[in-house]
Amino acid sequence: MPPSNIITLSTERKRVVITGCTRGLGRALVEGFVARGDLVSACGRSGKALRAMGREMGPAHHFFQADVSEDASVASFRDRVLEEMGVPNLVLNNAAVINQSAPLWEVTAGEFDEVMTINVGGTASVLRHFLPVMIDAGEPAVIVNFSSGWGRSTAPEVAPYCASKWAVEGLTQAVAQEVPPFIGVVAFNPGVIHTAMLESCFGRGAASYPEPEDWARAAVPFLANLRPSDNGKALTSP
Ligand SMILES: NC(=O)c1ccc[n+]([C@@H]2O[C@H](COP(=O)([O-])OP(=O)(O)OC[C@H]3O[C@@H](n4cnc5c(N)ncnc54)[C@H](OP(=O)(O)O)[C@@H]3O)[C@@H](O)[C@H]2O)c1
Repeated sequence: MPPSNIITLSTERKRVVITGCTRGLGRALVEGFVARGDLVSACGRSGKALRAMGREMGPAHHFFQADVSEDASVASFRDRVLEEMGVPNLVLNNAAVINQSAPLWEVTAGEFDEVMTINVGGTASVLRHFLPVMIDAGEPAVIVNFSSGWGRSTAPEVAPYCASKWAVEGLTQAVAQEVPPFIGVVAFNPGVIHTAMLESCFGRGAASYPEPEDWARAAVPFLANLRPSDNGKALTSP
């Protein structure tokens, strides 16, 4: 069962969609929202981890195998979410990958495309498939596009990742100008947290940063409290 020490009482039971839930921040977000009493529908690619999460989190929550970089996969994820949970009022566009650290000229075209297709194309796909049903529902809702410190600054050896997260920031700003006033679309820099992604670029130094469960104690209430009036903001996790 999810950790009981982060249970908070909430009068509003949210319907939360989380992409990239099988480890790292996505998994910690699932645990945090489940503990708050919200309904969660989440996706990732690793079937084994998804099945384990289904058993652990209980029947009120749903875990689907979906690849955000494939349009049809996101469409069928959206359909399953609507069947099992209904229209979400909080969507956390969290799934992403980082390139293996290297100067740009040593990154293959294939790896560059993969980073852009998952991080930018995947974020756009989730917006493309979820926004119409959220707009039709006519209820207040927020979509959070996970950016990075490297969506607002840069570093060597992670140029593809930086390019993808700067794109997420721009995509967010533009879509925020398109949505009706009862929907908010924001960019969110989660900070620096000890996950597999951080180990890929920081090596052993990653272990000196907070664990995802500790990060989630402040991040989950922060995300739960976002409102449509936050539309267009570039936010940073507390
Ligand atoms: N950790 C940090 O310090 C940090 C800092 C700044 C920003 N961020 C951002 O925060 C988010 C989470 O990062 P993290 O550190 O938790 O990364 P992580 O540990 O590598 O986890 C990434 C998650 O995304 C899923 N995923 C990757 N590609 C996918 C795809 N094509 N379709 C569906 N799911 C996919 C992975 O699961 P599967 O492999 O099972 O699909 C995994 O569950 C990312 O957007 C990242 O850019 C993290």
